[in-house]
Formats: sequence, structure tokens, C-alpha cells
Amino acid sequence: SQELQSRLLGRIRDVPDHPKPGVTFKDITPLLADPAAFGALTDTLAELCLRHGATKVVGLEARGFILAAPAAVRAGLGFVPVRKAGKLPGATLGQAYDLEYGSAEIEIHAEDLDPGDRVMVIDDVLATGGTAEASLSLIRRAGAGVAGVAVLMELSFLDGRQRLERSLSGAPLEVLLTL
Ligand code: PRP
Ligand code: MG
Repeated sequence: SQELQSRLLGRIRDVPDHPKPGVTFKDITPLLADPAAFGALTDTLAELCLRHGATKVVGLEARGFILAAPAAVRAGLGFVPVRKAGKLPGATLGQAYDLEYGSAEIEIHAEDLDPGDRVMVIDDVLATGGTAEASLSLIRRAGAGVAGVAVLMELSFLDGRQRLERSLSGAPLEVLLTL
């Protein structure tokens, strides 16, 4: 709703020239420190998971963990972490993706997802879409289905939505704030 959106937006701080000149960082720490706002966000994300028939919630390290884990608990669903490469101790699937300069890799424990699972991916920001796209490929390679992707913020000028379209393959992209 409009009311939720302005409440969330009022707790996101613009930090100019971070992490580098010309970039405006969207800092969610004021939102996390406000239990009413964080609670409303958690309820909304949990509701989206259930509405789209999710059976598991994937959070993307690191900021995605903060939003996805409480939403999973609230929805009564299991939480599965997608981590930066080298952190998970078990048998992993890995997916590399391009960054502005260079590349990165994320991993998932393959055994955390079952073939019948429908997974909702939660992160704080959709920027270029590279991170979310790589997570969808991990989920499909683990043999599970995609219930959707839900983000707090979409930086629409970076066209992540377009990059994600193919890997969503019809699954919904839920965005609470379009910036
Ligand atoms: C940020 C953000 C998203 C991702 C979005 O994470 O939290 O996960 O970038 O960018 P993209 O759409 O261009 O892939 P980042 O890896 O910078 O760090 P974090 O560990 O703080 O979440
Ligand atoms: Mg991140």
C-alpha cells in the first residue's frame, strides 16, 4: 500500500558517494532499527511468499539474509542461504556472475532444496539483476522451482528487471519500492 511504501521509504537513508564517488547508497539500517517498520516489511514479504505458493525462502548474502530470514519464519517456511563462494561447508552448487568490474560467485547447499520445492528469493535491492539471476539459476540447477523474486527496492534505471525476465520464466518479480 501507499502507506507502507512511505513508511519504508522514510526509513531508507541516501548516502551520497558510497561506496564510491557518484554512487548513492541506499542504507536500510534506519529501517532495521525501527521495529514497527521492520515488522511491517517482514509481514509483507511473508504474505508474498504465501500468496505465490512458496515452500522455501532463499536469502541472498548478506543484506538479503536480514530480510529473508524473519519473513521465512513468519511465513512458516524453511530458510535457505545463498552465500558468497567458499562459505558453505557441504556439497555446493556454484554460479558465477558478472559485476561492473570482474565477477563474483555464489553458492547453495544442493541438498537444501527438493524437487517439489517452489522457492521465493528475497533480497534488499535489485540493481543490475546479476545476483538475483545467478540465484535463480542455482535454484533451477538444484532441481527446484521458482515461486518468485521479492525485493525491497528496485533501482529501475539499471534495468535489472529486463535482465531477470528470461530466468524468471513467468514467475513474478515483486518490488515494494521502485527508485
Ligand atoms: C548488493 C545488494 C544486492 C545486489 C544487487 O549486494 O544487496 O544483493 O548488490 O546488485 P545486482 O542486482 O547488480 O546484482 P552486495 O553483493 O553488494 O553486498 P551485500 O553482501 O552487502 O549484500
Ligand atoms: Mg546483497
